[in-house]
Amino acid sequence: MSKVCAIFGGSRGIGQAVAQLLAQKGYHLAVVARNLERAQTTAINLGAGHLAFSCDVSREEDIQNTFKEIEKSLGHVNYLVNAAAINRDGLLLRTQPEDMLSQLQTNLVGTMLTCKAALKSMVQQQGGAIVNLGSIVGLKGNSGQSIYSASKAGLVGFSCSLAKEVARKNIRVNMVAPGFIHTDMTAHLKEEELKKNIPLGRFGEPSEVAKAVAFLLETPYVTGHVLIIDGGLHLLT
Ligand SMILES: NC(=O)c1ccc[n+]([C@@H]2O[C@H](COP(=O)([O-])OP(=O)(O)OC[C@H]3O[C@@H](n4cnc5c(N)ncnc54)[C@H](OP(=O)(O)O)[C@@H]3O)[C@@H](O)[C@H]2O)c1
Repeated sequence: MSKVCAIFGGSRGIGQAVAQLLAQKGYHLAVVARNLERAQTTAINLGAGHLAFSCDVSREEDIQNTFKEIEKSLGHVNYLVNAAAINRDGLLLRTQPEDMLSQLQTNLVGTMLTCKAALKSMVQQQGGAIVNLGSIVGLKGNSGQSIYSASKAGLVGFSCSLAKEVARKNIRVNMVAPGFIHTDMTAHLKEEELKKNIPLGRFGEPSEVAKAVAFLLETPYVTGHVLIIDGGLHLLT
């Protein structure tokens, strides 16, 4: 069976690192993001046999159309990685309802919708694997990130439930929960201060998260797991 993996949020950061690692392992990648040019640059750099698609995961119709396009050009999707997310950090009292909704729609509902779309072909093929990107903040909470945290905590319940729902179809659903990783999402943070609280004493690299994602995609007897990749941050908070 050919290995076709759709990576939502695959154009930059952690998703891009996952795409690079999986390309080396012989997967055919669909690199998906809103900015098509950026996704195309990533896909071209992966080499031949990989394609870029533009899709906003907060729009169900976009997701439906994207899966149709992917299946037409690359074949059935049997692996799915959900790395598309946004954050609008701020204290709850200062958070606007539209910023609450956009985070929940993109991070939580977007992932639910891509999983639903991918499952159709995975069920047909009697097999597949999904990895959803959560966050240590979804497990431990963080001041100023209550909505982002809720979106990621929601993914834990969703992923564990879905893991139970589709296990008999030989489809596995797992999560990784990163701490601070060097990407655009963390570029504005005060790293020197924050890394003092990390037992391993540094931020992580996208390639380090990618290894965990690949492990969960490829390990046949693991489902419903949340793998923390945070340099030990969870031990202290
Ligand atoms: N970096 C960290 O420290 C950290 C820690 C914990 C968890 N995470 C999680 O890890 C995942 C990847 O994070 P990252 O740091 O790599 O983020 P990033 O560098 O900001 O990249 C986000 C990716 O998601 C895409 N994206 C954003 N909104 C989208 C939408 N509505 N529809 C489709 N694609 C969308 C972006 O492309 P476009 O903008 O072109 O759409 C980009 O490819 C996220 O789930 C994040 O919450 C990250």
